[in-house]
Amino acid sequence: MDMPEYARYQKLAEDRLQTLCETYLPEDSQVCRAARYSLMGGGKRVRAVLVLAVCDMLGGDIEAASWLAGAVEMLHAYSLIHDDLPCMDDDDFRRGRPSCHKQFGEATALLAGDALLTTAFEVIGDAPLSEQARTAAVQALAHGAGARGMVLGQELDIAWEGKPATDEVLRRIHRNKTGALINAAVQMGAAAADGTAEQRQALETFAYGLGLVFQIVDDVLDVTSTAEQLGKPIGSDAENGKTTFATLYGPEGAQRLAQQVNEEACTALNGFGPRAEFLRRMAGALLERKK
Ligand code: IPE
Ligand code: IPE
Ligand code: MG
Ligand code: MG
Ligand code: MG
Repeated sequence: MDMPEYARYQKLAEDRLQTLCETYLPEDSQVCRAARYSLMGGGKRVRAVLVLAVCDMLGGDIEAASWLAGAVEMLHAYSLIHDDLPCMDDDDFRRGRPSCHKQFGEATALLAGDALLTTAFEVIGDAPLSEQARTAAVQALAHGAGARGMVLGQELDIAWEGKPATDEVLRRIHRNKTGALINAAVQMGAAAADGTAEQRQALETFAYGLGLVFQIVDDVLDVTSTAEQLGKPIGSDAENGKTTFATLYGPEGAQRLAQQVNEEACTALNGFGPRAEFLRRMAGALLERKK
């Protein structure tokens, strides 16, 4: 992501995560070491940057919002640890290193995921924000990550393995497994800045579009990229018998669809005017991303 504002938000999130680790994931347990290994081992920090960028756009305090940015990255890191487990996608590499269960064993990896999931909510509870903002952030993250969001998406993703999913089915899977957490991130940014209901609604439309684009591109890269470039195995979807937009329309067709969805998503930002310029450019960069 070759954008100076992106790097600035990313650094703020990275620094916050470092401090949060010292308090919430002390290195005196193997589970915490495994959690830190996965949490701090790279990653684009897209969800953290979304929290901060939305908060900034709406005139909130990004220093305080960085706690929410840290929380959403903890939640995301948990989802990746569990996603890589042998009972899920069974992938041995993540962020250019052995995946958590390869490094620490399955039981520790499972618990490291549990620790990150729960700690995320503890961090929100302790964040230096108003009670109203913290409550809204908890609701947004729990809703996006839970049984009607990401967990449902992962459930459907597995249920459809080996079956010929349609465009409609794939949209439902992607909306939940990826869109829901991206929406949680933007809603947490809005919560930190006391955004209005109208702003939150527009951001939701943007976020689900962005989430769909993000997962389509992830599916395309699984076919067209290299493990070195991505830092995770390629061909994982085919190996697990997953229908993706890349299998449905071919990589080029899927990329064209992503471009179209991106344009629609950005339309939802019109009401924010020039203040949404960073989000528009970030969405464009995620469409063109190579890792
Ligand atoms: C990977 O997410 C999982 C998906 C939802 C596609 P990212 O591509 O954001 O992974 P990191 O955080 O940069 O490693
Ligand atoms: C991940 O989707 C969605 C999650 C909730 C973690 P993928 O299974 O395609 O993500 P990668 O390709 O392993 O990062
Ligand atoms: Mg998966
Ligand atoms: Mg996977
Ligand atoms: Mg993938």
